[in-house]
Order: sequence, then C-alpha cells, then structure tokens
Amino acid sequence: MCGIIAFLGNRDNAGKIVVDGLKKLEYRGYDSFGFAEKIGDKIRVSKSVGKISEFKETAKTFAKTNLAFGHTRWATHGKVNRVNAHPHASADSKVVVVHNGIVENHADLRKMLEKKGVKFVSETDTEVIPNLIADFLRKNSPREAVRKTAQKLVGRFAFVAAIAGESKLFAARNGSPLILGIEKFYPKSDEKLLAKVDGSAFFIGSDVPAFLDFTHDVVYLDDGELVEIEESPTKDHFHGHFFEIASGRPIKKRVISIDLKASRAEKGDFTHFMLKEIFEQKETITRALNQDEKQIERVAELIRRSFGTFFIGCGTAGKVCATAEYLFAKIARRHVNVIFGSEFDTQEAFLTDRTLLIAVSQSGETADILEAYKIAKQKKVKTVGVVNVAGSSVARQSDVVLPVNAGVEKAVASTKATTAQLAILTLLAFTVAGKPEEGKRVLAEAASSINDFLNPRYSAHLEKIARKIKNVESLYIIGKGADYPMALEAAIKLQEVSYIHAEGFAAGELKHGPLALITKGTPLIAFVPMGKFRADVLSNVAEVKARGGRIIGVSPKNDELFDEWIRVPAVGAAQPIVNIIPIQLLAYHLAVLRKNNPDLPRNLAKSVTVK
Ligand code: F6R
Repeated sequence: MCGIIAFLGNRDNAGKIVVDGLKKLEYRGYDSFGFAEKIGDKIRVSKSVGKISEFKETAKTFAKTNLAFGHTRWATHGKVNRVNAHPHASADSKVVVVHNGIVENHADLRKMLEKKGVKFVSETDTEVIPNLIADFLRKNSPREAVRKTAQKLVGRFAFVAAIAGESKLFAARNGSPLILGIEKFYPKSDEKLLAKVDGSAFFIGSDVPAFLDFTHDVVYLDDGELVEIEESPTKDHFHGHFFEIASGRPIKKRVISIDLKASRAEKGDFTHFMLKEIFEQKETITRALNQDEKQIERVAELIRRSFGTFFIGCGTAGKVCATAEYLFAKIARRHVNVIFGSEFDTQEAFLTDRTLLIAVSQSGETADILEAYKIAKQKKVKTVGVVNVAGSSVARQSDVVLPVNAGVEKAVASTKATTAQLAILTLLAFTVAGKPEEGKRVLAEAASSINDFLNPRYSAHLEKIARKIKNVESLYIIGKGADYPMALEAAIKLQEVSYIHAEGFAAGELKHGPLALITKGTPLIAFVPMGKFRADVLSNVAEVKARGGRIIGVSPKNDELFDEWIRVPAVGAAQPIVNIIPIQLLAYHLAVLRKNNPDLPRNLAKSVTVK
C-alpha cells in the first residue's frame, strides 16, 4: 500500500538507487510513481502515471546527488494521474514529501492552510503535509517543523520529507511501516539501544527489500517516532537521530541485523512470482511445521485457559481464520470465534483480560489488524500473531509470535503464506486437543503428498481446464466444513487475478438462493470430500448439474457428475491445504490466458496499511 524509499549517503547516484528500490516495492502500489532529487539548493521532482517496472531510464534521467527519495502509489485520495502522484511539494517548493497512509483530517488542515493563502494543486490528502511543514518552518527548525506537522496529522501514516537547502532527510511514522537501513553501520553494537547511529549511508523504506542490496542493518521505527538523517560535521559519514513525535525528546532504538537470505525473493526460472510461490508450497508446509514446540504449547494453553478466543484476519488470512472454527470443532472439540480484522471493534463487549486474540497476517502490517490490536491492548487481551514477515508491526506487538516461515511472498495474491498459515492453525488445533504428534504426522503426510502432485503436468492439467472456462462471466465454488472457507478463498484468488466474477458458498446453501444464478455451462467448482459428507456435497453438485452447470470436481475420487476432475490426495484434517492449491494454479492460468499480470492485479496492493 504505497511504497517509500529514501537515500542519503556517500554515493552520488541517489536517484538511481531510489528508482531501483521502488521497483522492488512495486507490489505495494502501482498506479503511479515518482522521485525527488536534491540538486544544489533545490529539490527536483519527477513523476509519472503507470508502473515503475515499465519506467525507461535514459542517461539524463538522474542528477548527480547523494539525496533522493521516491514513492510508488496505491491511490486512496484523488484519481490516478500525474498531479496526484507523489512526491508532493509545498506551494513555495521548499518542502517535498512522500507519504503512505491517510491523513484523516486533511480537509480541515487544507482549509486552514488555504486561509493562509496556500494554493493546492492536487486532490490528495498528502499535499497538506509539505505545506504544513513549510508553514511551521517560518518559526521553527526543520526538525521541529516536521515534528509539529506529524503531531497535527490524524490517521495512520508514514512520510519522508526533505527541505530545500538542507542535506537532511526526515521520516515519521504513525501506523504505517517505516524501516531505516544503515550501510556500514559503525561501531557494530547490535546489542545496545542507541539514540544516534552512524553509517556511510542511510536508507528509509516501507519494506526491507527496497534496500537489501546494500545493507541488512536496520532499525524499525515504531508509531509516534521520527528520525532525522544528516551529514556528520566531518562530512565523511552520516548520522541518524531518533525522536519521539509527541515530546521531541531523543529516544533510543536497537539496530537489528536481518536474515538476508530469508528476505530476498527472485523469480528464478518462473515467469511470475505467483507461479513460483505456488510451487514453493512443496517445501513451505514443512517449514511452517518447524515451530518451537514450547511456543505452540504455550499458545494451546492460552486457548484452553481463555474465556473466548478470537481468530482475526483480513481477506485471504480471514478465510484461513474461518477454517479454525471447523478445525477446532472437529479436532479439539472447542468453539473459537472468527471475525474479520475490520469487524473486531464490534466485539468490544466480550473483551476482557481473559480473552485471547490470534491474528493471522502475512505482512503483519494490515491496518485493520493493527486497529484490532489497539482495542485488544486497551482491554488487556492477550495477543498471538501468526505472521510471515518477521519484524513487522503485528509481530512486534504480539505477546506470542508463531512465525509462518513461508519466506518472502512477492505476488499480491497470497498462496504459499496461506497454506503455511493453514498448517499452523491445524497444528494448533491438534495441540489444543493434546495430540501435537498426530497433528505433525497428518501435516507431514500432506506436505509430502504436495511434493508428489504439484508438478508441471498437474499445472498443465489446470491450464487445460482454464482454457475451457476462460471466457465465462461467472463461476461458483462450493465446499462443506473447512472446505467452505476454502471455497471463499478460492473465490478471492479467482477474482483478484482472473477478474472473473467468482463467488464461494457453503455447499448446502446453493439451493436457498444462488441456484438461480446457474445457467447452461456455468462452471461450478466443488470441493467434494471423502467420508461422511461426500454424499451431501454430491447431491448439491447434482442440483447444479441438473440445471446445466459444468462441474469441476476437486476430490481424491472421481465421480460421474464431474465434467472435469481435479485430483487431490486424501489427507484428512489437512484437506483444505491441498484443496486450495489447484485453485491457485487455475487462477494463475486464467490470469495469464486473459492477459492479466497475476503478480500485480489491478486496484490491489500487497499490504493494506489503510483502514
Ligand atoms: C489475497 C490477499 C489479501 C490478504 C489481506 C490480508 O490474496 O493476499 O486478501 O490476505 O489483504 O493481508 P495480510 O495477510 O498481510 O494481513
């Protein structure tokens, strides 16, 4: 949700560093992009509509400078056009800003500034930030002007600002991620808390991949914090100073060395990250199971002791959470509550210090989850984060973290993180039931079966089915039990990359209304289980078949009702994990056949850091 990168250091190709960094952050927003470079006492802004990956650089693109910053936009306020693209400058051109998040009180601030004669040029909420800084600069130092501006903003934000004539960068965070990277950090003192850090160059990014080619020494800014980066008086290195936004007091931060290997993601031989990440599921389930046993047992005990456990997630992660309701009922004979992150605030009446909140989030930066955490903290609710991105806000704010260990997920559509999250929740249900070993065995068998069936031939079979249905207007997916949330997840996957209208239903619900949507040739994807519910689901399938529906059965066993059979192994409680994989592949092939970019679906972004 908007990518930010900034550079100030001992190199003179800052613009190029920033643009290369933006390309690595494209998954955060790809409506438009822009960058700013310090040239003498001025700041030059270049911006454009479209994807940063399609930006053609020439010999003249970049100035020779050691200070630059840029932004790739996911539009919230204002249309997608060049004027609304970041960076935004103050009316007097003195202050330039890139911003991620939403300034909720921008209308009031704009009015106040307009009364003072400021002329706005864009429709964005962001434009108030450089103008407020410029206003404060009349009577304040640059740092105080930035700090006072940050104090005035309501909402979740992260911004970077530079001031013409100053060899400095400022960055402030309240709710949206910002990470500082320090090249040649010295003296090395990872253990200590520091109010000032020294390095040969500094980066500021909304995600670490933006600057991983240069450094793995980072400082995670927390909410309410500000960093000022400046050249040392000896002009041979740079300093970063940390401050509290509310008081302006210096604060101490820890420099963390992150695991470079785990944070890199390259496409390799695959045409798209989505396909690569689907295939990585051959190993990610096993990695997800590699949990600290004590931590899993600790969470299981928290669930047993809690008076109300809530699983929360958004989008795909929300569907993963919804499986918990079925998995815990079946495996642990326990009721758990499941609710979308954005709806958690409706449950305040039930929250006490005996409540447990388990948040599932790939990015760990989803605003709806962080808002839920605020409420949880107020009510003294214990929190567990099932998180893929180590060091993310959810990970840092959780009382206990269960790492998903799926590795960097670059494609906007979640695949490998989804199944790894499912594996962890399944293991948790077994652990609550006092049968962790059985859980591990079931999941290890599922992981090894994925290794067998997920191969290029299987993918080709899915592509063949995709060719047959690529021009349909709508398609529907049904499932029963934990396969029902997987039907909902299948719909999300198909919607976001194929752009075909797709909807998921509980199998038995079709006849209560949606059956009216079935006409000749309408595809129905049915998760048809083995065991006691097979007959029920098959009779729902027959109802669709009788009305001309084209049946795509996802099942360990074929059936005469199926027009197409997608074979999946029978893996007991791990069935949702193997069922969703062929649908991820189907969605991928539909996207490619329909000439969509599966890695960067329209209107979406990887981490949703706005409410
Ligand atoms: C869909 C998808 C989204 C995310 C959702 C939550 O493929 O990826 O629906 O699941 O935005 O994101 P995280 O898991 O980062 O909290």
